[in-house]
Amino acid sequence: MAYKNIIVEKKEGVGIIKINRPKVLNALDKETIRELLNAVADLEDDKKIKAAILTGEGKAFIAGADIKQMKDMTPLEAKGFAELGHSLPVKIEESRLPFIAAVNGYALGGGCEVMMACDICIASKNAKIGQPEINLGINPGFGGTQRLPRIVGLMKAKELLLTGRNMDAQEAFDIGLVNKIVDDDKLMEEVESLAKNISSKSAVQISFIKALVNKGSHIDLTSACSLEILYFSTSFSTHDQKEGMSAFLDKRKPCFKDE
Ligand code: CAA
Repeated sequence: MAYKNIIVEKKEGVGIIKINRPKVLNALDKETIRELLNAVADLEDDKKIKAAILTGEGKAFIAGADIKQMKDMTPLEAKGFAELGHSLPVKIEESRLPFIAAVNGYALGGGCEVMMACDICIASKNAKIGQPEINLGINPGFGGTQRLPRIVGLMKAKELLLTGRNMDAQEAFDIGLVNKIVDDDKLMEEVESLAKNISSKSAVQISFIKALVNKGSHIDLTSACSLEILYFSTSFSTHDQKEGMSAFLDKRKPCFKDE
């Protein structure tokens, strides 16, 4: 599929989506959000792809929703825009693919919101992360008021949301919003190596584990544990369970077939 605002690359089982509007720091307008939704769907349809990376061209990951496009929206148009925006984090969370955010610079507002939907976040040293919407006279509109407290806790989230201040990579790491900080010029190397490591596992288990953690975090513990038991028992109907356990006992590397 041809895209205008993003670049999609497929490399050794890993899909790489790069937002490519560097002149506006990869701000998310409607067209870019729609392209991203299509790109995620396209990667999911490709059975050879087992992990995905999301990153940005230039000095930003995503500097937020497109302020120029939003400025004159009516409340009804803003509702439609927020609904479209919300569908992107949901699409990423519900994807069978693990998404790694390679946070190469600014991840602000909608950028932080999309980053938080990813499964693992690796930030370069120069990353700046935050929810500055309050400074524009709006509240976050792509899930920031909901996902941020679930990740960093209520108090910290409210401080960040109410001040609208940006954090550096170290602070984001300290509060558990990013998994690791790496040198700017090592970011893609590090993230691609992590994605390749994950994609060497069984695609069935990649999708099961992601779904269990994501779904389980929204329901009560008893129901979530029941879901885990169900997925665990289902695992025993797969080739990859038989192969994984046989390989362990034979003292050899498993050869997963993703089935
Ligand atoms: N939307 C539209 N354009 C944006 C943008 C955004 N979110 N962020 C940056 N740009 C544009 C700038 O307008 C500028 O364009 P021009 O060259 O035409 O003037 C260009 O990108 C470069 O930006 P700056 O000159 O401002 O670059 P800087 O290095 O001086 O500052 C920055 C970088 C601190 C990230 C600053 O650009 C900034 O504060 N951007 C806005 C961040 C923000 O408020 N994000 C939240 C948006 S609202 C939102 O996301 C709502 C939601 O939850 C859905």
